[in-house]
Amino acid sequence: MGSQTKFAPDYRESPAPLFQQVIADDPIPAPAVLREYSEIDVPVARVPRDQYRSPAFAALEEERLWPRVWQMACREEQIPEVGDCVVYDSPGASFIIVRSGPDDIRAYYNSCLHRGMKLCAQDTSVAKLSCPFHGFTWNLDGTLAHVPSRWDFPGLKDENMHLPQARVERWDGFVFLNRDADAPPLADYLGHIPAHFADWSYGDKYLATVIRKTIDANWKTCIEAFVESYHLAGIHAQALPFGGDASTQYDVWADDPHVSRFMEPTGIMSDQLPRALSEQEILNSALSVVFAGAVPPTLEDGMKARHFMAAGMRAAMGEAHGVDYSAMSDAEAGDAVQYSLFPNLIIFRSLGYPYVYRFLPVRGDPNRATFEFMIFKPKPADAQWLPEVEKVELGETDTFAGAGVLPPWHGEIYDQDVNGLRQCQAGMRDGGDADIIYSAYQEVRIRHLHQTLARYVSDDPRDAPGRR
Ligand code: FES
Ligand SMILES: [Fe+2]
Repeated sequence: MGSQTKFAPDYRESPAPLFQQVIADDPIPAPAVLREYSEIDVPVARVPRDQYRSPAFAALEEERLWPRVWQMACREEQIPEVGDCVVYDSPGASFIIVRSGPDDIRAYYNSCLHRGMKLCAQDTSVAKLSCPFHGFTWNLDGTLAHVPSRWDFPGLKDENMHLPQARVERWDGFVFLNRDADAPPLADYLGHIPAHFADWSYGDKYLATVIRKTIDANWKTCIEAFVESYHLAGIHAQALPFGGDASTQYDVWADDPHVSRFMEPTGIMSDQLPRALSEQEILNSALSVVFAGAVPPTLEDGMKARHFMAAGMRAAMGEAHGVDYSAMSDAEAGDAVQYSLFPNLIIFRSLGYPYVYRFLPVRGDPNRATFEFMIFKPKPADAQWLPEVEKVELGETDTFAGAGVLPPWHGEIYDQDVNGLRQCQAGMRDGGDADIIYSAYQEVRIRHLHQTLARYVSDDPRDAPGRR
C-alpha cells in the first residue's frame, strides 16, 4: 500500500543506525510489513496550547470529534454469551455493548426512553434490559418488551420505543462503535492496520488484564507521550544504553489519516550518550535494568546484544505462554512496534509488549484523562472458556510498578511517564500562551494526529476523512 519514495534519513542528521539498517543484520529476518517505510509528508505545524487545556476546545471535540470516529468499545471475549453487556462511557455518550445474538453485537445508548435513567451502571449479564427506575424493559434486539402500568401511557407506540443505537463493526476481536451514519466503514477507517496485523492476530489473543489510571493530563498530551521515543533521555534515562530512541522509525502514510506507527529497536544505544558502548556494555546495562541483579553472560564473538535479548524474550514469553516462539523474528520478539489508531488507541505488534492502550478525556476537565492499559495473552487452542478480565484500578498515589501485574521494569517506565505527563500538563496549563511545536521526524505522529484532528473539528463537516 502506498509508494515509498522518501526514506527516513532525508529527515535526520543522527549518526545512529536506522531501524531498517538495524534489522537488516538480524539472524531471524523481520516480516515484510516491518521492512517497509513510509514517505513522511506532514507539515511542521504549531498548535495553540488551548487545544490541550481549554474547556471550549474539549467541548468542540465532544461535539465534532467523538461522535464521528470509530471508537474501540470493548473486546468480543468480554461478552461471550448472549445477554452479556459492557458499559462504555465514551466522551459525551454512554453505551451498552450487548451480545444480542450468538454473532450479533449492538451498541445501545445507555439511557432509558422514559426519563433518561442510565440503564446499566456497570458491566452485567441480562436476559432483557430493564430500567432500574420504573421498570421499562427492552429485549436484547432493542424492541420494547414491557412498560409497568402501561395504561398510564395511552399514546405510547411500541414502534417508537426502539432503543437508539450506534453502528457496530468488528475487527480481530475488537468491537468498535460509531455514532455517525456518514462515517466510512471500519475497514476503510483502519487503513494499513488489517494488512499489517494479518500475521499478528489479536483474534488469537484475549484481554487478560486492564489497568485503569486517571492521569493529570489532557488525553492528547497522554497519547503524544507514547508515540515518540524522543523523551527517552529526559524521562527514561536508564534505557539510553539499549533503548534505540534515535534509531526508531516513524511511519505515517499519505492515504491513511487515522493510522501511524513507530518501530523502536532494542539493544541499540542512544545517540545521546557521550561515547559508543560495546555490545557487551549494552547487554550489561539492559540486563541490569530488565533483570536487576542478573549476572550478564559474556557475549560470544559476533553476537549482538539485541540478538541475545530477542532470544531471551522468545524463551521467556514462550515459557510464560506455553507457545513455541523460536522462529519469530528478532524485531517482532525484541523491539517495540506500535500502531496508533486515531483518535485514542495504541496497538502493539510486539511479543514483549502484548499491550493496547486506550485514552479517554475526563468529562469537564481538559487537564485529565483516563488511561486504560490492556494486557493480552494468547488464547489456549482448546479453550472452552476464558478467564474474566482482571480489572486493576490505580488510585491517585498507586503506581504501575506497585500493581504487580507488569514486568517490574515496565511498571517503572509507565510510572515515569505518568509523572512526566503530570508535569507536562501543569506547564502547558499554567505557562502562558506560546504555541506548542513539534520536531520534523521524531514527532511526526503527533503532527499527523493534529492534522487529522483539525479535519474533524473543522467548521465544514465534509473536511472529516471519508466524507463527501
Ligand atoms: S426512567 Fe427508566 S423506567 Fe423510568
Ligand atoms: Fe515514555
